[in-house]
Amino acid sequence: MSSPSHDTDTPPPPAHVAIIMDGNGRWAKARGLPRVAGHQRGVDALRGVVEAGQEMEIDFLTLYAFSSENWKRPPTEVDDLMGLLRLYLRRELRELHRNGVRIRFIGEWRKLAPDIVKLIEDAQNTTDANTGLTLVIAVNYGSHREIVEATRTIAAAVADGAMTLEDIDEASFARHLHTDGIPDPDLVIRTSGEQRLSNFLLWQAGYAELVFMDVLWPDFTKQSLQQAVDEFHQRERRYGASSG
Ligand code: FPP
Repeated sequence: MSSPSHDTDTPPPPAHVAIIMDGNGRWAKARGLPRVAGHQRGVDALRGVVEAGQEMEIDFLTLYAFSSENWKRPPTEVDDLMGLLRLYLRRELRELHRNGVRIRFIGEWRKLAPDIVKLIEDAQNTTDANTGLTLVIAVNYGSHREIVEATRTIAAAVADGAMTLEDIDEASFARHLHTDGIPDPDLVIRTSGEQRLSNFLLWQAGYAELVFMDVLWPDFTKQSLQQAVDEFHQRERRYGASSG
């Protein structure tokens, strides 16, 4: 793995990049292939982007693999996506671990099939002490539900006296989200030309730069990631302040 040093000419990469991987179905359709073929190629693109993230020394890479709304897809497609997740974890954990990647899942992944839950627990436990890229995979994830659940937990804590109303602030609220311990994304990328967040990291992406790219996810390469990071560097982040 190459390790670029960041001199004054090379601005540091965004610490946290989050990606909505969209367009697998359209990629397959354009080739007269079944949708699953698009998802399979999507996993290849995912592999490439994890490698690129390591090479670019990005600290956190979050990938939206399955939303809480994706259950509305035909059962065969849901099965295909779950099968790919299973395969990915079985086949790639060792290599990711060897490369120092720390794996974390967000979303209601504990509600998935028991064997997948076991694979996820194993991946998280095995890689917990790693200090390289943190790969965050969002599965059965949706921001609205995440925020409602956090609110419920906090309300219950207030009701039983473990928290007071004054204890509720942005920091304590964020600690009740699935992303506790993960910094907010600096850059959110969505592929395939769609310009929506689709219930992804709605709280966390409050100040993120959004980059929408026309490329379909299976065609997303290391160069595509670099292009998005270059665009990020063109933007001036002000966090609500006026420009200097
Ligand atoms: C969007 O394309 C993509 C998804 C819903 C799934 C993304 C999943 C993968 C890349 C593979 C599985 C993940 C892992 C971690 C192994 P779409 O189907 O909505 O495409 P379309 O909008 O063109 O129909």
